Amino acid sequence: MNKIPHAKPARVNRNQQFLLLNNPLPLKPSALPKFASAQDLVERMKPSEPVHCLRPHAIKTATKFFVSAFPGQVMYAVKTNPEPYVLKTIFKAGVRHFDVASLAEIELVARECPKAMMHYMHPVKSRESILHAYHKFGIRSFSLDSLDELKKIQEMTQHAKDLTLYIRLSIPNDHAAYSLQGKFGVQGEEAVTLLRAARDVASKLGVCFHVGSQCMDPADYRVAMAKTRALIDDAGVAVESVDVGGGFPSIYPDLAPPSLQGYMDTIRAALDENGFAGGMDVFCEPGRALVAENGSVVVKVELRKGNALYINDGVYGSLFDAGYPGFVYPTRAIRPLESFSGELESFKLFGPTCDSLDAMKGPFMLPADIAEGDWIEIGGLGAYGQTMRTKFNGFFSDKQAEVADAPMLSLFGL
Ligand SMILES: Cc1ncc(COP(=O)(O)O)c(C=O)c1O
Repeated sequence: MNKIPHAKPARVNRNQQFLLLNNPLPLKPSALPKFASAQDLVERMKPSEPVHCLRPHAIKTATKFFVSAFPGQVMYAVKTNPEPYVLKTIFKAGVRHFDVASLAEIELVARECPKAMMHYMHPVKSRESILHAYHKFGIRSFSLDSLDELKKIQEMTQHAKDLTLYIRLSIPNDHAAYSLQGKFGVQGEEAVTLLRAARDVASKLGVCFHVGSQCMDPADYRVAMAKTRALIDDAGVAVESVDVGGGFPSIYPDLAPPSLQGYMDTIRAALDENGFAGGMDVFCEPGRALVAENGSVVVKVELRKGNALYINDGVYGSLFDAGYPGFVYPTRAIRPLESFSGELESFKLFGPTCDSLDAMKGPFMLPADIAEGDWIEIGGLGAYGQTMRTKFNGFFSDKQAEVADAPMLSLFGL
């Protein structure tokens, strides 16, 4: 039973509401309207557009865990959530390295966290972005997975002698909820050839890989490192850096991973076993695990048809991963003036656009009596949520608020 406590009287007038949620200026973290929880937000604002709820305290906790537990340096994957408040919170919590994948991300990090060190970890880059990354923004590390990209990097940096070049290796993504295999990465003879060619021109040579996003088994990092060691030995080159990528999981209703400490212990042991410990630069590139728990979106139910709810955000908004990859997110129904009386039942959701792909099969657990006009908080959306929004069909909300309560699900005991 989802019992909602009594409603509090509205504490802001309509004018204040407008100022709080329709501020046309980019909002700094300190300028965000603050609420105790999404319930509090709904009671006071009755929002008719989706509101993205942020929990800086959750980002801080996750980041501090990684900084202290990972046996190397943490490099935040900016693509996961490039909101300025996220970048700044992560930097303040101790991360100094940022994985960027485009010129726009480079400009953003340079503006928001000017002291951060950027690494251009997209294996396929435009010539213009390499030129600006190297000459204008001082970026010296680049990843690549082909001889043609190596040639491009050399030409656009005018054969610079101070490059750190990471060869992106293709390794199995066997236990990832979201496989990243097939698009990037080299293996076998191709990897050997590229390692040797990059060694000839790099100041520092590195290797990197990605075990796939939401990797549910830490042993995949061990397998990846053994394969990496074998390729380095085949190539007969010295390597100065190893980057074990992202893939660290968050928690979802149907995806509860083993403890993150277990991932750190496995990685530490595998670094040791494969001769990557001591004297090497070791990096990880987490995205999801640092920011997923912090974010949620408050949506409104526009219509109910049986156990299908039509809501005002969807897969063309911040719920992209609830669509095709079918992520199931935690949900909480909110009704300001009354309690829900129904038991929890499974619902599917439809987004606001006219497109039939704007459908999220869930199951999302909500009270049986949920109805048009109620709100739902959907959690676990800090990673690959806000960043995936489009303006398709005219639906787009940039309303944000800071909330102080704990994430709906947490791997960090929040
Ligand atoms: C190169 C690279 N590094 C890091 C990440 C972050 O991965 P995750 O969010 O699974 O930690 C990604 C995600 O696509 C990526 O492509």
